Amino acid sequence: MGEAVVVRNKQVILKDYVNGYMKPSDMVVTSDNTIRLELPKVEDGLILSKNLYLSCDPYMRNRMGNVVVGTYVTSFTPGLPICGYGVARVLDSTHPDFKKGDLVWGVVNWEEYSLITDTTSLIKIQYIDNVPLSYYTGILGDFVFVSAASGAVGQLVGQFAKLLGCYVVGSVGSKEKVDLLKNKFGFNEAFNYKEERDLDAALKRYFPNGIDIYFENVGGEMLDAVLNNMRIHGRIAVCGMISQYNLDRVEGIYNLHLLILKRIRMQGFLVFDHYHLYPKFLDMIVPLIQEGKIAYIEDMVEGLENAPAALAGLYTGKNVGKQVIFKDYVNGYPKESDMIVTSDATICLELPKDDGGLVLLKNLYLSCDPYMRGRMSKPFEGTYVDSFVPGSPISGYGVAEVLDSTHPDFKKGDLISGSTNWEEYSLITNPESLIKIQHTDVPLSYHIGILGMAGMTAYVGFYEFCSPKKGDIVFVSAASGAVGQLVGQFAKLYGCYVVGSAGSKEKVDLLKNKFGFDEAFNYKEEQNLGAALKRYFPNGIDIYFENVGGKMLDEVLPNMRLQGRIAVCGMISQYNLDRHEGIYNLVFLLMKRIRMQGFIVIDHYHLYPRFMETMLPLIQERKITYIEDTVEGLENAPAALVGLFTGKNVGKQVVAIVHE
Ligand SMILES: NC(=O)c1ccc[n+]([C@@H]2O[C@H](COP(=O)([O-])OP(=O)(O)OC[C@H]3O[C@@H](n4cnc5c(N)ncnc54)[C@H](OP(=O)(O)O)[C@@H]3O)[C@@H](O)[C@H]2O)c1
Repeated sequence: MGEAVVVRNKQVILKDYVNGYMKPSDMVVTSDNTIRLELPKVEDGLILSKNLYLSCDPYMRNRMGNVVVGTYVTSFTPGLPICGYGVARVLDSTHPDFKKGDLVWGVVNWEEYSLITDTTSLIKIQYIDNVPLSYYTGILGDFVFVSAASGAVGQLVGQFAKLLGCYVVGSVGSKEKVDLLKNKFGFNEAFNYKEERDLDAALKRYFPNGIDIYFENVGGEMLDAVLNNMRIHGRIAVCGMISQYNLDRVEGIYNLHLLILKRIRMQGFLVFDHYHLYPKFLDMIVPLIQEGKIAYIEDMVEGLENAPAALAGLYTGKNVGKQVIFKDYVNGYPKESDMIVTSDATICLELPKDDGGLVLLKNLYLSCDPYMRGRMSKPFEGTYVDSFVPGSPISGYGVAEVLDSTHPDFKKGDLISGSTNWEEYSLITNPESLIKIQHTDVPLSYHIGILGMAGMTAYVGFYEFCSPKKGDIVFVSAASGAVGQLVGQFAKLYGCYVVGSAGSKEKVDLLKNKFGFDEAFNYKEEQNLGAALKRYFPNGIDIYFENVGGKMLDEVLPNMRLQGRIAVCGMISQYNLDRHEGIYNLVFLLMKRIRMQGFIVIDHYHLYPRFMETMLPLIQERKITYIEDTVEGLENAPAALVGLFTGKNVGKQVVAIVHE
């Protein structure tokens, strides 16, 4: 045997633990490392891989911090390569399950070649004909959990998922069934839920990186634990809730807010609606991928050199006269005194010319949004935005004028919208996330409302998640707010019958007389929400645009019609509670085949141009009405923000620092 080849091994190394937004410079690409392209034959169980595709996933930001508690993944080690999901080819193997030439997907290091000593995450790729290998870092590499998995349905679901290349874990009620799942049905893992005192801990053990697909057969406590462990964009197919069928009162589900945080789709179905599809299912899915008939969009960068920027690109954000400083993490309802307005900071109103890529902003309008409450809490698992930093200014969406710029895309005098700080002037070090305002023929503040996040949320939520049909009966909660007022008007323009709920008589009048809702009611005056819904929806609801959560959601569920859609946009009634209220009526998802899907607008900004094309004419032709509630001056910003949670605002809450 000739000398084994030793080659340079390009790697992406984490320099040090990251605080705040990550930057490409937090990682360094080096070729200092060398690797021998043959394994020592004396050591069993090793794999040498050539890495082909790497997946950039948001959870990797958690691994870059020095996190000790509260995370479900371990931190990366500074000085060593980062790791994540990837597709690789086996170059050499002393492991009985893998041989030279095999294609595998699983956890690999961000480097050209990896010596893999822990092969537990690796899965052999079976389908390669016309299936892009990179799909295995996404659509085909899903982590699937099936409850009641040895049952007639569960055993088949697990095997379908395995055939598709998923990693499948099942839960069952005995040791014998656990053995069946692993040895007969080919599940990757299985556990006896009756022996687990802490279901959440058990799921974390089997899914350290979370669950993509949950096939729900049991409901109750298991569903709550699963919600906690779902990954972003997860899907829950509600097939049954057997644990609840014999209870006088079903158990409450407390983690439904995670539908939003994690953009989860949860849908009930009954098989007799779909019998025409059943025989075709197995034959259908793999050929569809092979023939390229299933669309799967990738954002692919070439080479390890570009990997740090690609990963950092998953996140946006950051940045300083007068400022609104966040004092400390908040529990319960936020108060004005949780923020302090100071004039202690100074800022030079000219940028150093030798420092490229900076933009200096004079902030004009700031947006108050309910999601900012989440940022006032201590960092918690599963959140999609960073917490505010105690002692630093609050940040959020704003409209601003560029005072100075060393970034080629922006020049002095430009007007922008995007993420900025609650202060008079802000130095933006990552201006790529700012949007240059093209349309100055509408009030500038519109760019943080009807033409900004609130407008996009209403547009995406209604058109992409409600599947509207002419004549549909639509219910919108928090209907006079920034999002709700627009959703209701979109639905009216579509030909739907629309009812809204809001928290005062003034708001109810606005809904009916200004926004054109067919009906509206003050939920605070209704002793029995269920009865109120029956009054306004004697024939049920086709579409519920969910903004509030809690009791309203629980009462809406039994009032939904067959095949109803619930777009879960927000749950503001729950944001300030230590423990969320339980939802007891989820079984109606199943009985009425309801699709309930959480979404977060930031995932849908590729639709922004189409949204602008729709929205601008509607505003210009006065086909849509939009109400703002504007306070003047940074001094009044804290009160405006906390007012969202008591319903003080009437319409979109805006803070004007300087009028244009
Ligand atoms: N998924 C996303 O990407 C996304 C994006 C933007 C907003 N959202 C969500 O959408 C919802 C509406 O946001 P928005 O910007 O339009 O806010 P907003 O409605 O302008 O302001 C919040 C309104 O919520 C109502 N509210 C507050 N506490 C409540 C409670 N306990 N029960 C019922 N209603 C309550 C109040 O009106 P009343 O007087 O009617 O009570 C308040 O005026 C929020 O849940 C928000 O988190 C989600």
